[in-house]
Amino acid sequence: MYRSRHKEDLDKRTLNFLSSIEIDDKILYYDILCTKVHIIMLYKIHVLEKHEVSRLVGELNNVLHHPDKISREGCEDIHEALETHLIKKTGINVGGKIQTGRSRNDQIITDIRIKARDDIINVIIHLNRLTKQLIDKSEDNLDSIMPLYTHLQQAQIGNFAHYLLSYSEALVREIDRLFSLYERVNQSPLGAGPIGGSLLPIERNMTAKLLGFDNIMSNSIDATSSRDFMIEFTSNIASIMITLSRISEDLIIWSSHEFGFIEISDKHASTSSAMPQKRNPDPLEITRSKTAIVIGNLTTIMTILKSLPSGYSRDLQDTKVPFWNSVELVVSSLDIMNDVIQYLTVKKDAMRRASTESYAVSLDIAEVLVTKYKVPFRTAHQLVGALVNLSININDEIPFKSISSGDIRDVLSKVKANIEPVKIIKAIRDIDSNKSIRIRNSEGSPNPKEQTRIIRKSKLQLQKYSNEVQRMKETIDHVKMNISNTIKGIVEE
Ligand code: ARG
Repeated sequence: MYRSRHKEDLDKRTLNFLSSIEIDDKILYYDILCTKVHIIMLYKIHVLEKHEVSRLVGELNNVLHHPDKISREGCEDIHEALETHLIKKTGINVGGKIQTGRSRNDQIITDIRIKARDDIINVIIHLNRLTKQLIDKSEDNLDSIMPLYTHLQQAQIGNFAHYLLSYSEALVREIDRLFSLYERVNQSPLGAGPIGGSLLPIERNMTAKLLGFDNIMSNSIDATSSRDFMIEFTSNIASIMITLSRISEDLIIWSSHEFGFIEISDKHASTSSAMPQKRNPDPLEITRSKTAIVIGNLTTIMTILKSLPSGYSRDLQDTKVPFWNSVELVVSSLDIMNDVIQYLTVKKDAMRRASTESYAVSLDIAEVLVTKYKVPFRTAHQLVGALVNLSININDEIPFKSISSGDIRDVLSKVKANIEPVKIIKAIRDIDSNKSIRIRNSEGSPNPKEQTRIIRKSKLQLQKYSNEVQRMKETIDHVKMNISNTIKGIVEE
């Protein structure tokens, strides 16, 4: 349809090669919305008359309800298909005016931005839900004592609540990032034309306001060719996915027979065609691989954008697939993680056993020696380290418990610490995994009191986010309704 100077049609193979028509179905709705707003503006600047508005909008509504009715045949993208359809249905004298003062270059990026707005809201809603799930689950697990790991080696005693809340904190930061991204996305490129604007009296502020944008983008080259918000959004998504993949990895390890700390529900466990005993954590494994795909998508987008010359190039079209795919993947991964966490069984006994048998109380013992007996920390570290070695050789189930004052005297003669063996014995006897977290004082530690405080605070924070995202959603719904009402007003005037 656009071929005013060409002597022949686009070659079929070439058309298929460069067409984005299939993926564009995802923005048909947004293209219609954007076109309606453009029609309102064209009416206000006297390019379209009332009856033309009525016919065009009537046809757009038909397409909205029957998207399969428009022919995509021979079209490079949804913008061409829609304009061709409008011209076919309303004639060249009406439909032929639809692209006045507009180019596909400002049109496509407007569509992408208004879809991204909805997508951000949706991702925030899903993040909120999973974060709430983690917090609710942590409330039931303040007493689930477990070893914490660094380098995947037992480090200190903690509890499962503290572990779960570590990820809710991370997800809260993701929510924050998305709120801030929303402001950068919500800027209108519409009216920037192909690259350098228009001599028609188009009203960019009017269309921006009607579409619910906060502002117009002030440079028409930037408006049509920048895609940095896509890098930002996909990188936010990649960061969320990386967090989900880490949770997945932990749960996969902890659901192994050797750990036995958790059991994922039967409804989330796959099995083997050969080995009847198997309960495999496949949804978590797929979350790990989807993370790889999203990171690949981010790389694809950045690599397409790198070194592009100023102004629109067709390469930009290929950012849409990895971009929208990333949004879909993160939403489904957040859903799956929510389900897995909700239904998993926490094996409190196994966690407690592992804690009781653990040397992860070592730092606590060293700190007791520091606080109670003024032993320099480095000396306490050496002392307890030597006791661990001794104790491991005794092979008792409960670490340190069988150490005698004789053993300690031996160690003391080597470490040269000015402390009586009986005090060390007392420090050791006094501590167990339960007590270990109850005497932990610092903010952010697994002390159940501290975790209860954090749960309360996080719940309030989440409620605030949930109100805020609800308000954003209502604003968008209102924008959509207002577009319909404005059109009604024009037609019934
Ligand atoms: N299908 C194109 C895209 O997705 C729309 C813009 C086409 N513009 C152009 N000058 N060919 O980016």
